[in-house]
Amino acid sequence: MQKSILIIGACGQIGTELTLALRDKHGKENVIASDIREGSENLMDSGPFEVLDATDYDALEEIVAYYEISEVYLMAAMLSATAEKFPMRAWNLNMNSLFNVLNLGKEKKVDKIFWPSSIAVFGPNTPKEHTLQSTIMEPSTVYGISKQSGERWCEYYHHKFGVDVRSIRYPGLISWKTMPGGGTTDYAVEIYHKALSEGTYTCFLKEDTELPMMFMDDAIRATLQLMEVDKENVKVRASYNLAAMSFTPAQIAEQIKKHIKDFKISYKPDFRQAIADSWPSSIDDSKARTDWGWQARFDLENTTKEMLENLAP
Ligand SMILES: NC(=O)c1ccc[n+]([C@@H]2O[C@H](COP(=O)([O-])OP(=O)(O)OC[C@H]3O[C@@H](n4cnc5c(N)ncnc54)[C@H](O)[C@@H]3O)[C@@H](O)[C@H]2O)c1
Repeated sequence: MQKSILIIGACGQIGTELTLALRDKHGKENVIASDIREGSENLMDSGPFEVLDATDYDALEEIVAYYEISEVYLMAAMLSATAEKFPMRAWNLNMNSLFNVLNLGKEKKVDKIFWPSSIAVFGPNTPKEHTLQSTIMEPSTVYGISKQSGERWCEYYHHKFGVDVRSIRYPGLISWKTMPGGGTTDYAVEIYHKALSEGTYTCFLKEDTELPMMFMDDAIRATLQLMEVDKENVKVRASYNLAAMSFTPAQIAEQIKKHIKDFKISYKPDFRQAIADSWPSSIDDSKARTDWGWQARFDLENTTKEMLENLAP
């Protein structure tokens, strides 16, 4: 039977590319994009769109019934840097939207759910290198606390009510189609834009801050892969660690200099430094590799090439 898919928060950095990829795969009429705002022309022209507030259960239920939705991808959230400024709004959005979707699963109104977690579930007491799937977490940011709680609830709804919810702890995502939406790893996208437009970039993190990152194509491929694998292979129902590369601002600047030799970077750390300092520098993703065959394709070198080629005027 043909699936019918709903993406919530479809106009954001991940939602835009996820929607386009799902439409390629399942046909544009079978993939409904939704958000509280309109997205890029590319996205809006690619298929059906509904205005939907993820915190409004009745509106969500109505759209799910109308389009006979079987699969939901919940991408609406407030990200790490913005969440530190608006803690209660972040908590309300990040948790209530998740409960709404999980309850649709519990009521058997949808068959399958994707909800993204983040490396922000880890905290200052977590071992920083090759951080394991199961380890000390203790997140210290509003965003991280909401993601860790979300993971616990996903696992709970799976065990208690049989909800088929699947999740990935995305690292910082690098993409050229849509700008990032207020995270701590946004610098790794901004830097390419500024390198091309101004030949210089002032980074809000220190030069030696190493963080786990991933090119968007890998993140989308991982998401589709996890959603397609047999239920029995999804052994982690909280959220899977996922890795591709780790680098510092100084290292990304070095890569850019290979293409733009006069590129200059300076450093002016702000409140986001403390968030970055609380996160791991590299991630062990062996569970995802074993359970559903995950393998990253993009490293810093080919990510830089893709970014500069696609953003070039
Ligand atoms: N981008 C990353 O690097 C990254 C890393 C780890 C995890 N994640 C997670 O992936 C998910 C998507 O992230 P993103 O980077 O695409 O975020 P984004 O901020 O770019 O996009 C979020 C989208 O949600 C929409 N939205 C906000 N409030 C809404 C509401 N009440 N109802 C419906 N839509 C609403 C926004 O308009 C926006 O289009 C989030 O859960 C985020 O925490 C992202």
